Amino acid sequence: MQTMEKRLSVHVSTPYDVVICRGALQNLGAYIRNVHKGTSLMVVTDSHVEKWYLEEAAASLRAAGYRVETFVFPAGEESKCAKTYLALLNALAEKGLTRTDLIVALGGGVVGDMAGFAAATYLRGIPYVQIPTTLLSMVDSSVGGKTAIDLPAGKNLCGAFYQPALVLCDPDVLATLPEDVFCAGCAEVIKYGFIGDRALLESILHMPIRQQPEEIIFRSVAMKRDIVQKDERDTGLRQLLNFGHTFGHAIEKLSKYTLSHGQAVAMGMDMMCKAAVRRGFCDAQVTDLMEKLLRAYGLEQKVPFSAADIYRTALQDKKRDAECVALVIPVRPGTCELKKVSVSDLLFFAEEGLKA
Ligand SMILES: NC(=O)c1ccc[n+]([C@@H]2O[C@H](COP(=O)([O-])OP(=O)(O)OC[C@H]3O[C@@H](n4cnc5c(N)ncnc54)[C@H](O)[C@@H]3O)[C@@H](O)[C@H]2O)c1
Ligand SMILES: [Zn+2]
Repeated sequence: MQTMEKRLSVHVSTPYDVVICRGALQNLGAYIRNVHKGTSLMVVTDSHVEKWYLEEAAASLRAAGYRVETFVFPAGEESKCAKTYLALLNALAEKGLTRTDLIVALGGGVVGDMAGFAAATYLRGIPYVQIPTTLLSMVDSSVGGKTAIDLPAGKNLCGAFYQPALVLCDPDVLATLPEDVFCAGCAEVIKYGFIGDRALLESILHMPIRQQPEEIIFRSVAMKRDIVQKDERDTGLRQLLNFGHTFGHAIEKLSKYTLSHGQAVAMGMDMMCKAAVRRGFCDAQVTDLMEKLLRAYGLEQKVPFSAADIYRTALQDKKRDAECVALVIPVRPGTCELKKVSVSDLLFFAEEGLKA
């Protein structure tokens, strides 16, 4: 059943719309027709999403008159690598896709990043659309134009800024998401609330995200949109989106990726709130609310690493300049500020973040 759509326009170097609409996947072809007049397209997806949604998506695209090619790779972050990327480029070339054709990224953040980077580079750039199928990809990775693959030396080390022609979110597909994958997306929603939308925090405290996905996706995307419009290429303000991520990335890495990104970011946000209270940047209502929300979304977990290990690992992060690290610090629920702190101070933040 199709319901009313919500739509946001993202005004960056190449503007595009984000559409949120239940049942949109059944009408994929019609949505794509509005942004793309070509004849052929390549749907890129992973082995899990393929089973659930590829047939339905491809049928709608064919009904809209497109020649539909498909590229499916094994689900999982390990696939976001040079090998899959090259295989995808070769498939695009073999199927004869040209610059007037289109790539359709149907899947979570792994598919979106991979297909987006292929789109950015194949024939020096062909158009693509994002059809995100996880909560995380709907609220975060599909918007903002960052595309990347991982290198053996680290995640997202090879990529490009490249904007999609359209982002189409169908919240109905969230019904098939494994619970832990859903919760990982909830961590990012909590992040948006803390950095700029107190009412969003109240809303997801009183009504589960699963019961109001359109509204929550809309507000989260609006928040990300407002930030990326002001800082498309991540040179300043966009760092606000890293709330909880400096320690979160370190925790994720230390766990050898056995902790999900969402779980690790949840721990990172909790640490930043605790450290901020101890430093006097904010009062305990910040930590209270954070803890309530993490509990409500199954993200409350003790950090299994020491402050020294987290600090050391965080310092290896690519987003650091010589002596300072930009930290996102909560000043009250719904407001964070960017502060440069010295590298040595970062250790104290980690220590204070781990104190009960
Ligand atoms: N480009 C950006 O700005 C940005 C931002 C944040 C994260 N990322 C990237 O996003 C990736 C993580 O994204 P993710 O959490 O979506 O992971 P993912 O793409 O691996 O998806 C998680 C799992 O859910 C499955 N899945 C996806 N949709 C489904 C559905 N509707 N029903 C059932 N199963 C489904 C997938 O097959 C996979 O097994 C990371 O690689 C990260 O680096 C990018
Ligand atoms: Zn994140």
